Amino acid sequence: MSAEKNKSTELDNHSIEEIDEWLKRYPEDQKQSAVLAALRAAQHQNEGFLTVELMDAVADKLEMSKIAVYEVASFYSMFETKPVGRHCVAICTNISCMLMGSDTIVNHVEKKYGIKIGESTPDGKIFLKVEEECLAGCDGGPMMQVDHVYHMSLTPEKVDKILDSLE
Ligand code: FES
Repeated sequence: MSAEKNKSTELDNHSIEEIDEWLKRYPEDQKQSAVLAALRAAQHQNEGFLTVELMDAVADKLEMSKIAVYEVASFYSMFETKPVGRHCVAICTNISCMLMGSDTIVNHVEKKYGIKIGESTPDGKIFLKVEEECLAGCDGGPMMQVDHVYHMSLTPEKVDKILDSLE
């Protein structure tokens, strides 16, 4: 997908306010404690992924080294450091969900959009995230997380309804 549209290079006011809120919880000399929250705000601001410039801005804001921020961003699977679609769709394929039919859901969604897990649609709308871990919703499998919302007991019809309602 095109990297053109998401090129935030600076933290916007909303991100700064959110980070400042988190910083109130930590001692003045422990600003790095807010790094996960800060990266989450920056990623949200940039519609789903972090740019180097945004990670650098987080480093400056938290008085951390840039490399330390890159390490955090690349370690946690909730952060994307390459352009992806603005809606993150993570279908759980761990054992419980697999036994309850997650393969059918994955196949349906891949066919629906003509992309594979790990890819984004060319219009930049959908990102099919590779899900590495159980999402802790095993009692309602098969399930998926769309942006920050869990959707349980999925069927292909239910998935269509959820995904078609995304802007
Ligand atoms: S295995 Fe899918 S939520 Fe746990």
